[in-house]
Amino acid sequence: MKILVTGGAGYIGSHTCVELLNANYDAVVLDNLSNSSEKSLIRVKNITGKSLEFYKADLLNKKQIMTVFSDHKIDAVIHFAGLKAVGESVSMPLKYFHNNIIGTLNLLDVMNDFNVKNIVFSSSATVYGDPASLPITENFPLCATNPYGRTKLMIEEILQDIYRSDRNWNIALLRYFNPVGAHKSGEIGEDPFGIPNNLAPYISQVAVGLLPRVSIFGNNYDTPDGTGVRDYIHVVDLALGHLKTLPKLFTNPGLVVYNLGTGFGYSVLEMIKGFEAASGKTIPYKIVDKRPGDIAACWADPSKAETDLGWKADKTLSDMCKDAWNWQKKNPKGYR
Ligand code: NAD
Ligand code: UD1
Repeated sequence: MKILVTGGAGYIGSHTCVELLNANYDAVVLDNLSNSSEKSLIRVKNITGKSLEFYKADLLNKKQIMTVFSDHKIDAVIHFAGLKAVGESVSMPLKYFHNNIIGTLNLLDVMNDFNVKNIVFSSSATVYGDPASLPITENFPLCATNPYGRTKLMIEEILQDIYRSDRNWNIALLRYFNPVGAHKSGEIGEDPFGIPNNLAPYISQVAVGLLPRVSIFGNNYDTPDGTGVRDYIHVVDLALGHLKTLPKLFTNPGLVVYNLGTGFGYSVLEMIKGFEAASGKTIPYKIVDKRPGDIAACWADPSKAETDLGWKADKTLSDMCKDAWNWQKKNPKGYR
């Protein structure tokens, strides 16, 4: 089976490529390297001892996508490619709509032309907005609170319409909670360009001495210690969720939706303590104002994925922090 991985050089994509190759799938990666480095793919080959095909190509260029489909008989696509910085999406919405929506439409057009109708799409827990209760199940109401989230919601809706028009499509919408951690080898991991927006890479960079302290965005939320609570999931567990989704797609299930989370929430302070334990370093922090648009707490009900796919996240907070630290300390400046 040959899988096209768009955005395969990125954080989640590279970890998924490792698991695909380990499971004896053939992998073809399409990535424009706008937020990643080709080095991640060299490391994927080192970890697995297997090769994959890489196309430095842009989803905004339909001809480049067609080349990939002409060169390979693709069985399914895992579609990670997209821009993902919430703050940037608020200031540059057109960039996000252009890249994420047009890029996806081009991909879907080419898939349709080549009669490849199996796709796994990277959605996000952001499509639940501020949930009325917890844990979040897949049938909760959906809403977008920023342009990035709107691109996820719009693509989910586009895929729903495509499925309604043509039942030959098999589509899995995977709603990720908060991916953190790295491959246990420390060879691949999260490598944000510039100052990280997300908590885990920010804490790692403080631990390794690149940044002075963590700013905790508010400590008077309605949570046990007042700091925000999230469902952090180890990126390898997340990657394995995709591996469990592929066989499901090949049973022609139509359109399916799954939460990929652990079902547990940890606070910002608990994350900092976890990183302190993993790194043996004290992580300085200060409490600052809440970040606009942040919600107090969010965690998944992941039971549907367990029942339907036989997938369950089994790595602990300690695993997430240890593996993130191992990657950060081996690669203080990421792939650079
Ligand atoms: P990432 O930025 O590391 O990976 C995305 C990859 O897509 C990058 O390698 C980038 O170069 C590539 N890309 C972007 N636009 C492209 C285009 N037009 N053509 C070709 N390649 C393009 O991000 P990630 O954390 O690995 O996330 C992967 C997917 O999962 C994204 O769609 C993201 O929105 C989604 N997601 C991520 C998180 C998270 O916290 N990391 C949470 C929920 C959902
Ligand atoms: C963010 C995005 C969300 C996206 C998700 C995964 C926002 C508003 N939301 O979610 O759309 O799907 O990432 O990519 O950006 N925190 C700090 N200090 C920091 C960074 C974060 O205290 O420097 C806190 C936040 O307030 C939150 C928690 O840490 O309580 C996690 O934050 P983050 O890693 O940015 O993820 P989300 O806010 O869940």
